[in-house]
Amino acid sequence: MPDTMPVRTWSPDSWRECPIRQVPSYPDIEKLASMEARIGRYPPLVFAGEARRLKAHLAQAAEGKAFVLQGGDCAESFSDFTANIIRDTFRVLLQMAVVLTFGASLPVVKMGRMAGQFAKPRSSDSETQGDVTLPSYRGDIINGPEFSAEARTPDPARMEFGYFQSASTLNLLRAFASGGYADLHEVHRWNLEFAARSPLAARYQDLAHRIDETLSFMAACGMTSTTTRDMRETDFYISHEALLLPYEQALTRIDSTTGDWYGCSAHFLWIGDRTRQLDGAHVEFLRGLKNPLGMKVGPTQEPDDLLRILERLNPANEPGRITLISRMGHDKVGARLPPLLRAVEREGAKVVWLCDPMHGNTISTVAKLKTRNFDQILSEVRSFFDIHAAEDTWAGGVHVEMTGQDVTECTGGAHRLTEADLTERYETFCDPRLNAEQSLELAFLVAEELKQRRAPNGMIQVAAQ
Ligand code: PEP
Ligand code: CO
Repeated sequence: MPDTMPVRTWSPDSWRECPIRQVPSYPDIEKLASMEARIGRYPPLVFAGEARRLKAHLAQAAEGKAFVLQGGDCAESFSDFTANIIRDTFRVLLQMAVVLTFGASLPVVKMGRMAGQFAKPRSSDSETQGDVTLPSYRGDIINGPEFSAEARTPDPARMEFGYFQSASTLNLLRAFASGGYADLHEVHRWNLEFAARSPLAARYQDLAHRIDETLSFMAACGMTSTTTRDMRETDFYISHEALLLPYEQALTRIDSTTGDWYGCSAHFLWIGDRTRQLDGAHVEFLRGLKNPLGMKVGPTQEPDDLLRILERLNPANEPGRITLISRMGHDKVGARLPPLLRAVEREGAKVVWLCDPMHGNTISTVAKLKTRNFDQILSEVRSFFDIHAAEDTWAGGVHVEMTGQDVTECTGGAHRLTEADLTERYETFCDPRLNAEQSLELAFLVAEELKQRRAPNGMIQVAAQ
């Protein structure tokens, strides 16, 4: 490993001495400090033991023994906060997970970009409309999306609302995951309905019917949701970009059973592509937490720098600790990913590799709407699998921006949405998401890929460990 000793002793606030990017400028610093103190007294949202369990599942994925599905909104919003929206996203993630489990013949680790995915990095600090320039919208936990000086002024009170919305969302997700909603038979029935109504019905029904047969066989062997807990309940974890460090610090707690520090705003926290500087505040903050961590790696990520960050974040090379989320773009992944994979392999660094096929494929339409094309998304996922196969490494999963709603934000898919259709239901507060049908379609196509890549004897083709 490269020789990079951390420059300072870590504490929950040591990030404050480091250069920081993407930071909102709060006009009222005292109000910010009192909000941090207040949230610092609130109960943690997750328990350290849960984060450790997720890390163990991710360690399996690092070894090619599990596949990861991470998905949800680009930005959750305060105004679109309803039980139905949470339920529908959760349902589509479960549906996707079932087909992926079948495709990979492996457990699927499920993480929502949910219950705290509020803060957004922006390419510009300000936005100009006509002759008015205001601070950019940075996510509902910081400011409001409306184009007015009042809405765009960062307000610490929003952190408290974000905390309570996260608690409430997580409560519902926990209830769904263990209260019967995640019953495998139900989830499969929804998939059969999806496959039947898809314009590509013949293609998807084949896989759906094979799952059907498997479930019937299992039932005949006595494994049903009544007899088997794992068929009626599921593990579901929450995750978000740890961007707003005052909020994250306020929810950092010592785990009484181990004496270690945990970020208790979510099980899994990631560093975005814009804030992954080795000596920056975000890397400094996250290195001291014991949670499993993610980091986005975009086309500007250099291999040597990546190795230095890995050493900083995971000096013990603990499997499951680090998930690298590749977000190169369909046209760049072929050139940019292999050098990173090789560097990580050469170094023996244990990581999970996920493919985020969304963030490198964002384009602007003539009408100035941000969109992404389904074929390009799929193309990046396929290249990701091909590259891993060529390098003999394990393509550990996918990370997508999606919703359970029938929105029109990404073009393409079986229903062939065009740019002209986008204005019909363009509801995102930030980046364009796959709608429910496009998400399922992606899962079916990825499941086919996974199935094809398994050798005839049922073994997954991965590097000899
Ligand atoms: C995101 O995941 O919404 C995001 C901003 O991603 P990235 O950091 O990869 O640009
Ligand atoms: Co996004």
